[in-house]
Amino acid sequence: MKNIKDQIGLKNKRILLRLDLNVPLNNDKIIDSNRIDKIIPTINYLLKNNSKIIILTHVGRPKGKIINDLSLKPVCTNLKKKIHADIKLVLKNPKEIDRSELFVNPNERIIMFENIRFCAEEEKNDASFAKHLASLADIYVNDAFSCSHRAHASIFEITKFIPSYCGLQMGNEINALKKVTIKIKKPTTCIIGGSKISTKINIIKNIMPKFNNIIIVGGMGNNILEYKGYNIGKSLREKNCKETIDEIFAISKKSGSKIIYPEDVLVGKNLNGSSKVKELDNIDKDELILDIGPKTIKKIANIIEETNTILWNGPAGYFENPNFAKGSFEIAKKIVEKNKAKTIYSVAGGGDTVAVLNIVGAVNNFNFVSTAGGAFLEYLEGKKLPGITALD
Ligand code: 3PG
Repeated sequence: MKNIKDQIGLKNKRILLRLDLNVPLNNDKIIDSNRIDKIIPTINYLLKNNSKIIILTHVGRPKGKIINDLSLKPVCTNLKKKIHADIKLVLKNPKEIDRSELFVNPNERIIMFENIRFCAEEEKNDASFAKHLASLADIYVNDAFSCSHRAHASIFEITKFIPSYCGLQMGNEINALKKVTIKIKKPTTCIIGGSKISTKINIIKNIMPKFNNIIIVGGMGNNILEYKGYNIGKSLREKNCKETIDEIFAISKKSGSKIIYPEDVLVGKNLNGSSKVKELDNIDKDELILDIGPKTIKKIANIIEETNTILWNGPAGYFENPNFAKGSFEIAKKIVEKNKAKTIYSVAGGGDTVAVLNIVGAVNNFNFVSTAGGAFLEYLEGKKLPGITALD
């Protein structure tokens, strides 16, 4: 895959830059600007090389309709402030724009098209739409790893009509993911949480042969405890997953990868309540498991201590209530400690995990924190992502 940073002769070239600025918005207010912050180096790099930039991005799922609440106006304003440069937001439908209409003013450096998903052709991966978009620029750059699991016109089809490269952030993301999937340094540990074991089974199956330890926590951990015969009270669990768990243990036996699950827990009577440490054989009918207990924290910390590569997706408990956040925070702290000592390569991803890292201020103390949701998971499942295949 060619990276734009290895391309010379960018001066005065028009770069069609596909970004994922799909940030959570509440009445025009950006709740989390992480995705905007991460692509600033790419914009600065292109500006430094005197390129002209046309930004293509989306917010939400407007399904080919113009929805005012999903306008890019707040995103554009936020980005302008951060890069201290002007960005012209073009509201006209890109299909009706001709190349000669862009950058008429020679001082114009950056243009942003309105939400590309307002055009129905985008999600249909429409070839003539992609060809038209390509005609507006000289070079295409995909710096939207988190959208690359979508075979959409501005991600997949467009690469057929214009020289195409990956951007700086996309390059970093793929390098980091390779280090936890292909060029992996053992011993390796994967911490996996989340509510549904069925949504993560393909990841577990794909990575298990390469990982020495698979630590299963969160709602998925509850399922393992129930499978092992413990009463888990009112805890969150997924129904009908016995076969899935059978499969996990069968693969673990074959691959020699160890499955680790909670040895003690923190319970509460409800999500907002206080916490109590419980042994596994002592959980009451009206209690919910909402975090891992002290013995489990210690066990996980010892495993991390012996680990060279770690991948973390999914918190250990209901961290939204501070009474049940200790498990996730202690895991984060231990990884940061090893990271500071440069004795671990650490990658984390997934909205909730990133939220935990933000609370404890650990985002910059991981080797890589992915801003991708679905794309991160699909990559770890071993699937080919259309956006990446297209660039390859
Ligand atoms: C994301 O938020 O994961 C990407 O922007 C992709 O969004 P989508 O799931 O709506 O395609």
